[in-house]
Amino acid sequence: MADAIVADRPMLLDRLEAKPTDSLLALIQLCDADPRAEKIDVGVGVYRDAAGNTPILRCVKAAERILLEGQETKAYLGSAGDTRFVELIKPIVFGDNPSGYIVGVQTPGGCGALRLGAELVHAADRQARMFVGQPTWINHGPLIGCAGVEMIDYPYYDKASGAILFDEMMSALGQTRAGDLLLLHGCCHNPTGADLSLDQWREVAGLVSERGLVPYVDIAYQGLGNGLEADAAGTRLVVEAAEQAIIAQSCDKNFGLYRERTGSLFVKTLSSRTAEAVFGNLLSLARTMWSMPPDHGAAVVRTVLEEDALRADWRSELDDMCTRIRAIRARMAAFDPRLAFVNDQNGMFSMLPLTKGQVLELRADHGIYMADSGRFNVVGLSDDNVDRFAAAVTEKMDG
Ligand SMILES: Cc1ncc(COP(=O)(O)O)c(C=O)c1O
Repeated sequence: MADAIVADRPMLLDRLEAKPTDSLLALIQLCDADPRAEKIDVGVGVYRDAAGNTPILRCVKAAERILLEGQETKAYLGSAGDTRFVELIKPIVFGDNPSGYIVGVQTPGGCGALRLGAELVHAADRQARMFVGQPTWINHGPLIGCAGVEMIDYPYYDKASGAILFDEMMSALGQTRAGDLLLLHGCCHNPTGADLSLDQWREVAGLVSERGLVPYVDIAYQGLGNGLEADAAGTRLVVEAAEQAIIAQSCDKNFGLYRERTGSLFVKTLSSRTAEAVFGNLLSLARTMWSMPPDHGAAVVRTVLEEDALRADWRSELDDMCTRIRAIRARMAAFDPRLAFVNDQNGMFSMLPLTKGQVLELRADHGIYMADSGRFNVVGLSDDNVDRFAAAVTEKMDG
């Protein structure tokens, strides 16, 4: 009898369909296997210094030494994570005097924050809709949509001209209704590098307040565009304008902590009662997913931010990363006027006006590895190959 049941249906796990490998991971493997010494890897998603390394920041190493010596327990912290970490990150994102009530919890990276925020939205409204500019970070759909939030595209960026489609965006957002969510990249837009100007942020803030929208801001690269304050300016404008807002933050890039999974989720409301309910819901949702976030990265960030000398060193290391990014961008723009747009963009990524076929040709002919979309990481380049990269790319753009 038992045999017959087994024979009728495949075993549980045999019913799973194979999944394609992550395209960026596959790209890393292809690049690693390429024997050409002059190959260029601009597919990576992490910061690299001029020597091609992703070093641990000095301030992080120093904080780790302090923790190694001084940490006295590994006892559980609770679902909110390291609350002092959250307290220290808050003014970095929102400034010193944000209005309303802002509650926050530590999350496993920006990904955890995006997912937790989406679960909160879905718990509050099963019919919730989020407007998402296209293109957007490849994981926004899986992380947010998978929580059950409906995602509606709006046009954001024109790859051919390297320009933000602001009029089209604002006109599409004319379809929104009160309570709709609006996904925005706080700074250093991934994959395009194209950030709204402050005037454009002001217009969006006006729309948010007029229509009663709920900004859902993903700020994963603060400090890597134009400095910590400038990079938060747009986020602060829309959050101030909104009655309610959700902000997913990451320290994985600006502290170089990637694998330590360090981030936070903040929610703004105008009522203390709602803030309390939000906080309770965040804790109970976190409990169903990861129970408690991993401690180490947040403990490192807390240690850096609590100690003046370490905090100053972090600012200076962050400025160095930012300066390198800006220098490569400026050099590409100077190479050819058709690459001028690269200098107006921010953060590690920009998107070139190339077809997938042209991207594959660059890979085959020049050992240049970038995502099929034409997204490239500017810090995959250094002084000795940026001109070669720009020459190969513009030659392709000629057709
Ligand atoms: C736009 C954007 N948001 C969020 C994240 C998530 O960052 P984390 O590594 O902290 O989960 C990333 C990471 O690449 C990102 O590019």
